Amino acid sequence: MGPEDLKRILKLLPGQPADEVLVGLETPDDAGVFMLDENTALVQTVDFFTPVVDDPYLFGQIAAANSLSDIYAMGGTPISAMNIVCFPCNLDMEILAEILRGGSDKLHEAGVALLGGHTVDDQEPKYGMAVTGKVDPKRILRNRGARPGDLLVLTKPLGTGVLSTALKADFLSEDDIEEAMMGMCSLNENASQAALAGGARAGTDVTGFGLLGHLATMLPERGLGCELDHRSVPYYPRTREMAESGMVPGCAYRNRDFIEKRLVISGDLDELEVLLLCDPQTSGGMLLALPEDGLRGFREIMGPEGCFWVIGRFIEDPEGRIVLR
Ligand code: CO
Ligand code: CO
Repeated sequence: MGPEDLKRILKLLPGQPADEVLVGLETPDDAGVFMLDENTALVQTVDFFTPVVDDPYLFGQIAAANSLSDIYAMGGTPISAMNIVCFPCNLDMEILAEILRGGSDKLHEAGVALLGGHTVDDQEPKYGMAVTGKVDPKRILRNRGARPGDLLVLTKPLGTGVLSTALKADFLSEDDIEEAMMGMCSLNENASQAALAGGARAGTDVTGFGLLGHLATMLPERGLGCELDHRSVPYYPRTREMAESGMVPGCAYRNRDFIEKRLVISGDLDELEVLLLCDPQTSGGMLLALPEDGLRGFREIMGPEGCFWVIGRFIEDPEGRIVLR
């Protein structure tokens, strides 16, 4: 299922008539936003998934960082969370305790209160959270709003889809993907604050649809396109090598198909490089449209280049295409 399918399904649901709904089902945004008063709006999101690493404590941290990410991607501050747990009743409860400890430690780091949760008996373990945050209604970071000339900025390397596929296939051990695991654990809190400080005009986080799929959600049907320099896109160590060994997840191919009609390949990229740009990410970084004069303010919070990457630029384009160079 891709972004287009999802849009079609959501269109069938009855609309949300309330004036207080600032961001609802009709846009491809990361979380819903409901206005409480003119200075405060609630941001709400929910996300859970199957383990991407073997270590339960680490998985708990990654799932929590991932669930919080959609709040940060809206320019919001998470305040409270509820656990969502699926766990087989015949499995060692110590494992579940470790998953929950990972989640709760990550919430603590983010200054978010855990209010409760719900557990369901399920053969395949899954974990995640429903998260509530606050945002200033005048400073919501939507997916759309970029202008021609804005820089395209990414705040974490790519490759977690390929690397977790390689981990499942025993091509790699957890020690081999240390850097990617730390990346998935890390909060997008800093990136979100840097985005606001730099006056980012639009933003999202990179997750299941891959870099190109999420970039497409930042582009309206027409008028605005984006030029992406593939050599400036960062990857976690061993991603390319594992992709060459066939460890590309099926989702990357589906993401690639969905984006096909908007894609123009004008550089010397091979097909594998295009696929890597479609690799589904877990707890990926933020993808931002930053006005050039906002780069300084952004850098002051985010740190020097290497903590973030400028990977392209938004351009005028009647057909709203993504040009890969
Ligand atoms: Co998101
Ligand atoms: Co999400």
